[in-house]
Amino acid sequence: MNLNLGLFGFGCIGQGLWDVLHRTNGLRSSIARICVKDRKKSRPLSQDYFTYDKDDILNDPEINVVVELIDDADAAFDIVSKAMRQGKAVVTANKKMVATRFRELLDLQTSTGMPLLYEASTGGSIPIIRNLEEYYDNDLLSGVEGIVNGTTNYIFTQLMENPERGYAHALAEAQAKGFAESNPSLDVDGWDATYKTLIIAAHSMGSVLDPRQIVRRGISHITPFDIAAARSLGCTVKLLSRVLLHGNGFSASVLPALIPNSDSLANINNEMNAIRLHGAFSDDQLLVGKGAGAHPTASAVLSDISALRYSYRYEYKKLQQADAPVFNIGNPVRVFVRGPKELLNELPFSDVHVDHRTSSGSYRIGDLSLLDLSRSFAFNSETCFIATMVE
Ligand SMILES: NC(=O)c1ccc[n+]([C@@H]2O[C@H](COP(=O)([O-])OP(=O)(O)OC[C@H]3O[C@@H](n4cnc5c(N)ncnc54)[C@H](OP(=O)(O)O)[C@@H]3O)[C@@H](O)[C@H]2O)c1
Repeated sequence: MNLNLGLFGFGCIGQGLWDVLHRTNGLRSSIARICVKDRKKSRPLSQDYFTYDKDDILNDPEINVVVELIDDADAAFDIVSKAMRQGKAVVTANKKMVATRFRELLDLQTSTGMPLLYEASTGGSIPIIRNLEEYYDNDLLSGVEGIVNGTTNYIFTQLMENPERGYAHALAEAQAKGFAESNPSLDVDGWDATYKTLIIAAHSMGSVLDPRQIVRRGISHITPFDIAAARSLGCTVKLLSRVLLHGNGFSASVLPALIPNSDSLANINNEMNAIRLHGAFSDDQLLVGKGAGAHPTASAVLSDISALRYSYRYEYKKLQQADAPVFNIGNPVRVFVRGPKELLNELPFSDVHVDHRTSSGSYRIGDLSLLDLSRSFAFNSETCFIATMVE
């Protein structure tokens, strides 16, 4: 099957896709038209490729695949839904659109019969979604966890190396290197990782969550005291996405985590991503790769385009299971909480393992459910740093 592509967006990933497509022999596909937004921007290709009217692609019967690589989730949903209704297959990298419109996108795939692939939305170049769909279909997955946001991983790597420079300095450095946006909230408040976690939960546990159900806390409350505490405990700090099975339920969270230095996730540094899968029989497997950037992300987009040549589509078998695990955040987890004594005292720990109180700072390490944690004053206070403990 020849693939005639209509591309939306020619920014970082769109241009990356142009490069990788033109360096890949044997893939019978070419970009016919590119839709962008800003008429004043100069473009590195002939102006003949470009249009500013989405219908030039959506109504072109010669274009059979739409590749959506824009940075606006609402406009992307409009483009993607119209393309599918016009009988076009779609490839996208837009995690926010996929996560926030998951059910509508499922319905569209059913009603139009058109495939929608989004490998690049989660973990950049790491092939996680197709693996969860195909390879782990028959293995009992007890959990998927990992580092899925390169910006926060870069910041934590810098902080572990030079804690005295502080969070603001590490964030400014990430921005200067182009890893963080000028408005970094999507990354540092954990939303980007939350969208990816929702997609992982759907493909691993067969359950579509609302992003607000995922227990989420960002990284901006960390202080040099917290880094020193992590070091004294033999740990490294990372932002950890977790989807974990507990009996017939599963939890989903995006929280800073104290990871023992001996754990392979502790050694995933800077903008790298890693996803660990716990299988009942396969034991642990770790996928490591670049989670962002033009060529790594475009390689996942290219893989989806290539999969369309043999009519690949997600079957969502786990979503159709009658006995899929239900979302449940009532199980105890071990957490580190640093903050004012009165907030530490009111946390409903079932067990306290460390109660560290000094004039320079206080923290407690204990067990409580994610539900109780998320309802606590500490969780909702700017004055506390909270991290799960990886054992
Ligand atoms: N950057 C990464 O490393 C990375 C990694 C994984 C996934 N992603 C995802 O990939 C997608 C693209 O990211 P990016 O980094 O390439 O963004 P970007 O560099 O900001 O480029 C965005 C492009 O979208 C175009 N655009 C915006 N709104 C549009 C609209 N309504 N109609 C047509 N074109 C429109 C812009 O047009 P103009 O050129 O005219 O401004 C620009 O070409 C996003 O969903 C992002 O989350 C990015």
